[in-house]
Amino acid sequence: MAFTIAIDGPAAAGKGTISKAIARELGFAHLDTGLIYRAVGAKVLAGSDPLKAANSLSAEDLEADNLRTPEVAQAASKAAVIAEVRAALVQFQRSFARRAGGAVLDGRDIGTVICPEAEVKLFVTASAEVRAQRRHAELTEKGHALSFDEVLADVKARDDRDMSRAEAPLKPAEDAVLIDTSDLAIDEAITAALQVIHAAR
Ligand code: CDP
Repeated sequence: MAFTIAIDGPAAAGKGTISKAIARELGFAHLDTGLIYRAVGAKVLAGSDPLKAANSLSAEDLEADNLRTPEVAQAASKAAVIAEVRAALVQFQRSFARRAGGAVLDGRDIGTVICPEAEVKLFVTASAEVRAQRRHAELTEKGHALSFDEVLADVKARDDRDMSRAEAPLKPAEDAVLIDTSDLAIDEAITAALQVIHAAR
């Protein structure tokens, strides 16, 4: 049986960590849709046309080791503005969302465009400063030498672009439950998400 959990929210809100934990807990499959856009962004940085990149994505493209950098994130959010790029990626995400056995998808437009019929919709957010702090710590641990200000600038620039684009802008679905993680530890955020899910099952 299909059961979709849509998790949307701004950059570095903790969607990935929460999604993975929920998927593990429930035995659901997980798709990080941001990774798909990042793979397109990485190909664009390597010289590809954005639409060609979106149409020719392979599983290996999602495993490239530079995908988490702010440079790739910026290229991803620029490619994500293009309606044809988004359209090329819809079908795969939709069929993943409705796969048997349940699925958790995190991104920007999962509850609004990819799967408006999702059984649970969460909008995970936090202040830009808190999000940038978490992402900065994550990147520093992975050995990237970036300042906090650079990470904050990336987060803010992407939020602005993601919220103001015409196609599938970042916004909560009308029936999404908001979880603000500014003052929550990660396990508290996961517990809050699981409470909403258990109430809907
Ligand atoms: O991990 P983080 O929240 O920083 O970003 P991400 O989820 O990996 O997404 C990277 C970029 O891809 C975003 O800034 C969006 O521009 C784009 N994206 C999108 O447009 N739609 C999605 N469903 C997922 C990501």
